[in-house]
Amino acid sequence: MALEKDAGRFPLSAEKMPKHIAIIMDGNGRWAKKRGLPRKAGHKAGAETLEKIISAARELGLEHLTVYAFSTENWKRSQEEVDAIMNLLRQYLKNYFKKFIKDDVRMDVIGDINRLDADIQKQIMEIEQLSKEKTGLFVHIALNYGGRDELRRAMTKMAQEVVEGRLLPEEMTEDCIAGYLDTAGTPDPELVIRTSGEERISNFLLWQAAYSEFYFCDTLWPDFTKTELEKAVFAYQNRERRFGGR
Ligand code: IPE
Ligand code: IPE
Ligand code: MG
Repeated sequence: MALEKDAGRFPLSAEKMPKHIAIIMDGNGRWAKKRGLPRKAGHKAGAETLEKIISAARELGLEHLTVYAFSTENWKRSQEEVDAIMNLLRQYLKNYFKKFIKDDVRMDVIGDINRLDADIQKQIMEIEQLSKEKTGLFVHIALNYGGRDELRRAMTKMAQEVVEGRLLPEEMTEDCIAGYLDTAGTPDPELVIRTSGEERISNFLLWQAAYSEFYFCDTLWPDFTKTELEKAVFAYQNRERRFGGR
């Protein structure tokens, strides 16, 4: 909240607005611990922050927002915590994601949804279906997502098509490979934000973040605000991207 005093301090250029921001929403557990609350209270607060940040992203005019909600490694947590996260997901798929769809927001899920409970899979497919006609901000929720697992699934699919004679090895260009990933059709994120002071990628968008700018902040995800998002975009707009050129 301290940062709210900074509101309006980060003048942004509309021309240099990124099309796609990806966020590693980290720090829910520590936020709860600081307050003597159970970890699930942190996840609930984090879900509320996501709601605000989706609105902020619409207001900034972003085209894509990808958020890391649950990784392929997060199954290692206690059953109690995993269940709490899945129950929150159920609730949010039912309520606010549908509300956002009314506002023209599109939603889809990246990651392997087969491992999720059948009712959640059904809700996801319903939302993706409802989303199809929408033209506003596209929110991609990474669920049971891991960059290595995504590449593994893409490679398995390509190998199968080669075996069946539908794909030739020489056709496997970078664009072709990108088309087999969960993010097919989405431009790479220009900016990846990670909250909570951790400075690592934790298996997020390994292929897609090849040339992304990274922005790390100490704020725990439940405390993240629109102003902090603007601060991150401001930092991004003041960097020089070189893509290996001089
Ligand atoms: C991020 O918060 C949410 C998920 C990974 C599901 P954490 O739960 O990782 O919070 P910390 O890192 O323990 O504080
Ligand atoms: C990354 O956070 C995954 C999500 C935010 C969903 P983690 O908290 O799981 O990552 P590590 O374990 O600190 O690398
Ligand atoms: Mg964490």
